[in-house]
Amino acid sequence: MLPPVPTLSAHGAKIPALGFGTSPMTGTLSPDTVVAALKAGYRHIDTARKYGTERQVGEAIRASGVPRGEIFLVTKVSHENLRADDFARSVDESLKALRVDYVDLLMVHWPNPAIALTETMPALAKAKRSGIARHIGVANFPTATLEQALKLCPEPLVALQAEYHPYLDQSKLLATASRYGLAFVSYCPLARGRMFDDPVLGDIAKKRGRNIAQIALRWLMQQGVAAIPRSSNPQRIADNLKVFDFTLDDDEMRRISALKRDNGRIANPIERVGAWD
Ligand SMILES: NC(=O)c1ccc[n+]([C@@H]2O[C@H](COP(=O)([O-])OP(=O)(O)OC[C@H]3O[C@@H](n4cnc5c(N)ncnc54)[C@H](OP(=O)(O)O)[C@@H]3O)[C@@H](O)[C@H]2O)c1
Repeated sequence: MLPPVPTLSAHGAKIPALGFGTSPMTGTLSPDTVVAALKAGYRHIDTARKYGTERQVGEAIRASGVPRGEIFLVTKVSHENLRADDFARSVDESLKALRVDYVDLLMVHWPNPAIALTETMPALAKAKRSGIARHIGVANFPTATLEQALKLCPEPLVALQAEYHPYLDQSKLLATASRYGLAFVSYCPLARGRMFDDPVLGDIAKKRGRNIAQIALRWLMQQGVAAIPRSSNPQRIADNLKVFDFTLDDDEMRRISALKRDNGRIANPIERVGAWD
């Protein structure tokens, strides 16, 4: 029996700290992959209108036998659809593709400097007030944009999703999220496979009798953030959940944090963001 996945609490939301990512890097996502994740014990599933995986995620939820109420389901509205009418249409399409009547967390996927937040944030809040989103949040917002969004949003934002792994320093954004009581959800937590030859992670993994993915995920868990690793392999899907039965010591945490580097960022459409923290 695996220990239960802890949850992060933020403005009334309870977010399972380890979730499953469904952005297909190549090809399409099989519903079987998401069924494998649900059967392994994941209860937080991350999708987005942009990924083209909502239909498969919905199918997998129904096929898994896991009650809908036990799953924390997240989807996102793309940066092209941040005007009020487009926003509402996108959410409607998401619900139809997923075949659900609400999502647990609805997020703005990326900022878009061509569309004012004065339009987007009320549209996001409206989705919450109408009940089709239990909670709302944003992804890929740097501190300055997040602070504007918070001022303009009439409902609380519960989560900030952003890239975070040992090769990327996110100390400023982590402090921002914490200051406003938002849960921080790390995407690309395995740096899309770029750190599997890392000698420091390899050394810690060997000493602990774990693999590098588990060490990287544990490092995130010990910072009180959530993570949404993706895998297409049932064994790796299950292994990535096994990070709640060991603890990294302070020296190991420091050695991993020291791996941050200037060119560590993977997702970088800078024209949407302006400037990162
Ligand atoms: N908000 C945003 O803008 C945004 C952007 C990017 C991602 N995301 C979300 O974050 C999720 C995760 O990010 P990601 O998919 O880009 O990358 P990731 O989770 O960091 O890495 C996925 C890669 O790691 C491999 N992998 C997984 N577990 C492994 C293990 N135990 N051992 C060895 N290799 C392993 C996978 O290969 P195999 O399939 O072969 O296991 C895959 O190639 C996405 O799926 C998506 O839901 C959000």
